[in-house]
Amino acid sequence: MNASVPLSLPLVNSSLRTDRGDASARLVDTFGRVHNNLRISVTDRCNLRCVYCMPEEVTFIDRRELLTFEEIATFVRVAAPLGINKIRLTGGEPLMRRDLHKLVALLREIPGIHDLGLTTNGLLLAEQASVLYAAGLRRLNISLDTLDPHRFRQITRRDGLQATIDGLFEARRLGFRPIKVNAVAVRGLIEHDLIPLAVFCREYGFEFRLIEYMPIGAEPWERDKVFFAHEIIEKLEREIAPLVPAPDYDPRAPAMEFDYADGRGRVGLIASVSRPFCQRCNRLRLTADGKLRHCLFALEETDLKPLLRPVCEASVLAEAIRRTVWSKWEGHEINTARFVKPSRTMHAIGG
Ligand code: 5AD
Ligand code: SF4
Repeated sequence: MNASVPLSLPLVNSSLRTDRGDASARLVDTFGRVHNNLRISVTDRCNLRCVYCMPEEVTFIDRRELLTFEEIATFVRVAAPLGINKIRLTGGEPLMRRDLHKLVALLREIPGIHDLGLTTNGLLLAEQASVLYAAGLRRLNISLDTLDPHRFRQITRRDGLQATIDGLFEARRLGFRPIKVNAVAVRGLIEHDLIPLAVFCREYGFEFRLIEYMPIGAEPWERDKVFFAHEIIEKLEREIAPLVPAPDYDPRAPAMEFDYADGRGRVGLIASVSRPFCQRCNRLRLTADGKLRHCLFALEETDLKPLLRPVCEASVLAEAIRRTVWSKWEGHEINTARFVKPSRTMHAIGG
């Protein structure tokens, strides 16, 4: 079971205790990392069952336990003055949450939030893209591991390739930018699809993102099952075109970005296993049931629902956020024998 962070941390530096709006109230942890990036999971439900993410049979969180849009917005109104300026909505599958565009509209109005994105599997996107666009959403990451319907079923345990493709093209037609196509690099799975997906993304102007397979799904994970970023680069260069670091390449960012030397497209690699970016991590995660996590792999989380339902003083909530950041560990230990898998799988944390 995940434990909760104790309510009072002895080591809270007095400069971190300042009131909202004060510049020194930034969300800094004991390793000096400043947090500006928040991932909000809006549901743990999903209309797919990707093998690397979740088990076939799941008990979902009771809907009454989910934070309401107003509760999420309250959280963000307190977090923004602490330095949170970048938000990504995730799931499960976020478009399974009814009227998600209303949350987008609420978040767009919060001063200080200048970057809002959504990660979706795209199945329900074709029907929701226009209301999401009208609500102000522009950045989209769409998960897609294959262009072959049979392999789609093998990976996701469901049908839905055509719906995802329809969603991608509807989003493109409406003008969402950037649109990134996310695939998980599992050895034995991604090799077959890497080149067709890369060609497809180049053809239609989607950025192709590959995420090294992490031990956060339901299946037993081994390092040998990861198709590593350097192997991906070698294969793309051999079979498509040479890659050069993107002009705005930031060696410290989680994604290593490359452009094809012929100028036709961009590839991003998230090498969470072979090149962990914990030292530069700036992320916090809010789960659909109101738990604040300082890491995808965190073994403890802070239950914020008692502070949001009924809503408490903003300063109390701000202090709970700061305390969670302050309790953040140095990093995950995927590559060591000490690694302990969290009890929630990816769908219940938010990718
Ligand atoms: N390893 C890496 N990425 C994963 N995702 C889901 N499970 C894993 C895993 N075990 C990714 C999905 C999606 C995002 C929500 O998280 O592909 O893009
Ligand atoms: Fe659903 Fe995304 Fe997990 Fe696949 S990776 S099962 S689409 S939450």
